Amino acid sequence: MNPQKIYILGIESSCDDTSAAILCNQKILSNVVASQKVHEQYGGVVPELASRAHQQNIIPVIDQAIKQANIKKEDLHAIAFTRGPGLMGSLLVGTSFAKSMALALDIPLIEVNHMQGHILAHFIEEEDFDIPEFPFLAMTISGGHTQIVQVNDHFDMQVIGETIDDAVGEAFDKSAKIFGLPYPGGPLVDKYAQLGNPKAFPFPKPKVDELNFSFSGLKTSVLYFVQKQVKENPDFITENLYDICASLQYTIINILMDKLKKASKQTGIKRIAIGGGVSANSGIRKALKEGEQKYGWKTFIPKFEYTTDNAAMIAIVGYLKYLNKDFTDMSVGAEARMKI
Ligand code: KG4
Ligand code: ZN
Repeated sequence: MNPQKIYILGIESSCDDTSAAILCNQKILSNVVASQKVHEQYGGVVPELASRAHQQNIIPVIDQAIKQANIKKEDLHAIAFTRGPGLMGSLLVGTSFAKSMALALDIPLIEVNHMQGHILAHFIEEEDFDIPEFPFLAMTISGGHTQIVQVNDHFDMQVIGETIDDAVGEAFDKSAKIFGLPYPGGPLVDKYAQLGNPKAFPFPKPKVDELNFSFSGLKTSVLYFVQKQVKENPDFITENLYDICASLQYTIINILMDKLKKASKQTGIKRIAIGGGVSANSGIRKALKEGEQKYGWKTFIPKFEYTTDNAAMIAIVGYLKYLNKDFTDMSVGAEARMKI
C-alpha cells in the first residue's frame, strides 16, 4: 500500500525574501524565492519597502511554486507560514495571505517559528544530505540571528547561547560597508578572504559569558582600525583589501568555533548542524569539517538553497506539525519577537 502523500504549502516573508515552497511528505517539489533588490542602495533592509515588495511578490511567487510542483491548489493538505520572529510589516503579508488562503481552501493553517525553520531544514530529504539524529547542536547564523540551540527532538529545543547585540551577518555586512563594499557584503568578504592573509591584522575577540556572542565591538574596532590606517595611507583599503577581509573572517570564525567547542564540551553532543545565510561562508564550512577530525564531530551543512531564508524550511516544519495535528487558530497574528 502506498503511504499517503501529504502536500504542504510553505510561505516565508519575515525579512526581505518572499518565498513559497511545496513539499510532498519530506521532499521539496518547488522552492521559489523572490529576493528584494530595492534595499541594496540603502545598505540594509528598509522595513516599509520590504513590506510593500512582499505585497507585490506574494501572489506570483505562490502561483509559481504551485505550477513548478505540478499540483493544483486543491491538492494541498495545509498551509504553513512564518509567524515570527521578523519585521512586523513583512510578517503581516505572509500571515494574512496564509490565513485567507487556508480559509478559502478550507484546510488547516500551521504557524511556524522562523528559527525552528532554519534548524528543521535539516529534515528535508535530499540526496547526499544526511538527516541528523537527536540530540544535536544547531548553530543558526545569519543577518538577523546568531544562536546555538540544543535540539532534543523536532519540537523540543533550547537556546543555549545567542548574541547579546549584533548578529554575525551584521558583523560581516557592517564591516564590509566600512571597506566600501556593496550590501550585503558577507559573500564578498568571503571571496576576498580566500586571497588574503588571515593573520595580517589581529582584531580583538570579545569576552562574553557562557555560550553567548557579541559582535558590535568587533565592528567598532574594525572601524577605528581602518580610520587610523586610512589617515596614514589613503589607499590603505584598496592596497590591503584581501588581507583585511581574511583577518576579519578569521576572527569571526574563531569567535563562532570557540563557542561551538564549548557548547559541545558542556553538553557532550558531537553532532553539529548549521543554518542561516552565513553558513554559506567557505571558511566556516572548512572550520567545521576540520572539527570532524580534531574533535570527532559529525557535521551537517544543508543544501545552500535551504540555508538562506526560504519557504522550504517553513514547509518542512509545517509537515512535521501536520503529523502531530498541531494546527493554528484563525485568530493568529504575526509576532515580531517570537521565541523558540
Ligand atoms: O539567512 P539570510 O539569507 O537572511 C537573514 O539575515 O535572515 O542571511 C543573510 C546574511 C547576510 O548578512 C549575508 O552577508 C550573509 O548572510 N552571507 C554571508 C555569506 N553569504 C551570505 N556571510 C559570509 N560569507 C558568505 N559566503
Ligand atoms: Zn533567517
